[in-house]
Amino acid sequence: MSLSRSHAGKSRRNGASVQGGHPARTSGFPPHAKILVVSAIDRPTGQQTKQQSRTYDSAFLKACRREPVPHTPVWFMRQAGRSLPEYLKVREGIPMLESCMRPELVTEITLQPVRRHKVDAAIYFSDIVVPLKAIGIDLDIKPGVGPVVADPIRTRADLARLRDLTPEDVHYVTEAIGMLTGELGDTPLIGFAGAPFTLASYLVEGGPSRSHEHTKALMYGDPQLWADLLDRLAEITSAFLKVQIEAGASAVQLFDSWVGALAPADYRRSVMPASTKVFDAVAGYGVPRIHFGVGTGELLGLMGEAGADVVGVDWRVPLDEAARRVGPGKALQGNLDPAVLFASREVVEAKTDEVLAAAKDLEGHIFNLGHGVMPAMDPDALSRLVEYVHTRTAV
Ligand code: CP3
Repeated sequence: MSLSRSHAGKSRRNGASVQGGHPARTSGFPPHAKILVVSAIDRPTGQQTKQQSRTYDSAFLKACRREPVPHTPVWFMRQAGRSLPEYLKVREGIPMLESCMRPELVTEITLQPVRRHKVDAAIYFSDIVVPLKAIGIDLDIKPGVGPVVADPIRTRADLARLRDLTPEDVHYVTEAIGMLTGELGDTPLIGFAGAPFTLASYLVEGGPSRSHEHTKALMYGDPQLWADLLDRLAEITSAFLKVQIEAGASAVQLFDSWVGALAPADYRRSVMPASTKVFDAVAGYGVPRIHFGVGTGELLGLMGEAGADVVGVDWRVPLDEAARRVGPGKALQGNLDPAVLFASREVVEAKTDEVLAAAKDLEGHIFNLGHGVMPAMDPDALSRLVEYVHTRTAV
């Protein structure tokens, strides 16, 4: 039974940019040869890589562009990782950051969830702090803790440690994506980066934090230094995303995981300019830009306004309400509470139906969890969930 279908043509929020569905194509030409430019995320002529052309008609990219889809596409944040025994096996004895710098290992880990769960997109295996490590910041990812920075960044003099990122600094990313695109076929690869605020929170606190007190003290107490810090991070993040797109990523996600700690006025004043700078920097590639944070119910509209094509939603706001907050012209991604996966199969299916029902009138919907896969999750429950969403939404 078809429960929900993302269909721009029948949507109450039907955006003029996608009226009529697909961008026009001239038959007989390669898919990228001629297009009618109808929205900001249609392919720009001549710029896309072979992989971006090959994945163009995937359900995932269609949903990002708010076009009709054969089924609701599914992927999971943190799908590549500790819930998979095959991940633990290949990572054995190799520290997290080191594993991010080995192209063969990155390729294998990125492919594992695609093979196992049949998700509609791969996400590049890395971490948000990799570009900071690559420019020489002394940091490590401690198991069970997260990123820890040896000398936090809190003064103007500290800013000098944040130099520009060059493609050579992350040559292993280009190599790994080159290998991956050979293996992925028509499955799109999502590149990603940490957003300036979330990166700043690790750099200023020196590690994970619940209250973000040093970060907020800097933001409120020295707005100019804060703005300069976020601007630096926007440059680094933009460069890192460009490397991934130029190597063949078909979409990018900007994780502002901890920005939900801010009030909307502070977000608009102190964070949005830097996030917008990142989205603007990659706008010309024509790949969808996804933006996600946890606890961002009050910020959803602003996060879309920052320049995202797709807004990620955690489990706290139902998708129909999220659509009202985000407004027309954007697809949504989300938003099953990850903890639901620890309940019975019947509960998972019932809660999934709730998500799909709330998504039924969206212009574009990508099914995901409201945050990442947890290490203790049963991989089989995740595979069943992918199949369930595909079956329930098949046209
Ligand atoms: O989504 C994927 O499968 C791709 C891989 C990925 C990782 N980190 C691998 C990882 C992605 C997209 C990230 C992003 C990331 N890293 C975010 C944003 C996403 C989110 O969850 O909000 C954040 C905030 C980080 C920082 C970070 N790195 C944390 C909080 C942790 C967990 C610490 C712990 O051990 O509990 C990490 C480590 C990390 N990143 C692991 C993985 C697979 C675990 C390390 C291990 O397996 O040894």
